Amino acid sequence: MRAFLGRAALRGLLGGPRAPGPSPLRHSSGGPSRTQERTLVAVKPDGVQRRLVGDVISRFEKRGFKLVGMKMLQAPESVLAQHYCDLRGKPFYPALISYMSSGPVVAMVWEGHNVVRTSRTMIGDTDAAEAAPGTIRGDFSVHISRNVIHASDSVEGAQREIRLWFQSCELVDWPDLGPHSSVSPA
Ligand code: PPS
Repeated sequence: MRAFLGRAALRGLLGGPRAPGPSPLRHSSGGPSRTQERTLVAVKPDGVQRRLVGDVISRFEKRGFKLVGMKMLQAPESVLAQHYCDLRGKPFYPALISYMSSGPVVAMVWEGHNVVRTSRTMIGDTDAAEAAPGTIRGDFSVHISRNVIHASDSVEGAQREIRLWFQSCELVDWPDLGPHSSVSPA
């Protein structure tokens, strides 16, 4: 359930408030117009410690997604508090903030067709015991409290999280010219 219906998606279904934000990017050059999404992916401190950053990047690149922003940082507690604001009342919240502050994270913005939904499938269920083999969590995680990676759970959530973690000048809108450019059906 968790992997398929995240917090923001649930809010949407229940008709809750949606964060205002830009619509997905529209690329008009090079053929029929197509809409591109962006999502926030973050390798968590345990993923960095275990040298999994390269593997994560490789999976997203091989899938055909385009990296448009990336940085390593010690996440400020103010950013984590906003990022996980919906979870403030959960019993695991203090442990989650402490874990996310325990070392650097690598935050990335990936762009491509349906990247929000596809990246949730690629990372696997939040609970490692439920994460399918072949997914990032299914391959590398054994416990929900050390689940290696975060990916936004909805388009609206992604827009909010990208604004929280990145300034617009840190995102690079580079032309996608290569033969392996991101798949984007008309
Ligand atoms: S919930 O309870 O359904 O709202 O939680 P969920 O959407 O599945 O997960 C939200 C984030 O909380 C993290 N999480 C936990 N961290 C530590 N310990 C426990 N027990 C725990 N349960 C959930 C989970 O990894 C999600 O963080 P992100 O960064 O989105 O992966």
